Amino acid sequence: MSHRILFVCLGNICRSPAAEGVFRARAPHYATDSAGTSGWHIGDPPYGPMQKAAMVRGVALGDLRARKFVAEDFNRFDLILGMDADNIANIEDLRPEGSDTPVRLLTDFAPETGADHVPDPYYTRDFDGALDLIEAAVEGLAAHLRG
Ligand code: 4NP
Repeated sequence: MSHRILFVCLGNICRSPAAEGVFRARAPHYATDSAGTSGWHIGDPPYGPMQKAAMVRGVALGDLRARKFVAEDFNRFDLILGMDADNIANIEDLRPEGSDTPVRLLTDFAPETGADHVPDPYYTRDFDGALDLIEAAVEGLAAHLRG
């Protein structure tokens, strides 16, 4: 059973807090968190343009604060979801000996989109495109978790 779910991106101010926010609104009975593989924004709230784009969809992110992904997260969570292949590689670099916690791409749960990652809106500026993908994948993830 995956009851503790961690969303991971690079900065932990755009994609992973958005994914956490969309998921917790959709499935509030799960324990969720998000983290970044970099420590660049530790303690920061989600990026303003992402907060605004999410709020238009009724998703509030303002309480979230960035932190860095750590090896202990493999023990604290049942499922770890990265936004792109770099995230997955950086997460796997910290996998403790003997840990079998699954690490997957969020987009694995939205095969109908054809996307193999969530493009980083901090660079693309396409916050709505990122949210479209995240919402599709969260639907698929919720269906997967319901079994
Ligand atoms: P995120 O986007 O990984 O979706 O949070 C980024 C935000 C900030 C930076 C990189 C990616 N940055 O370089 O500061």
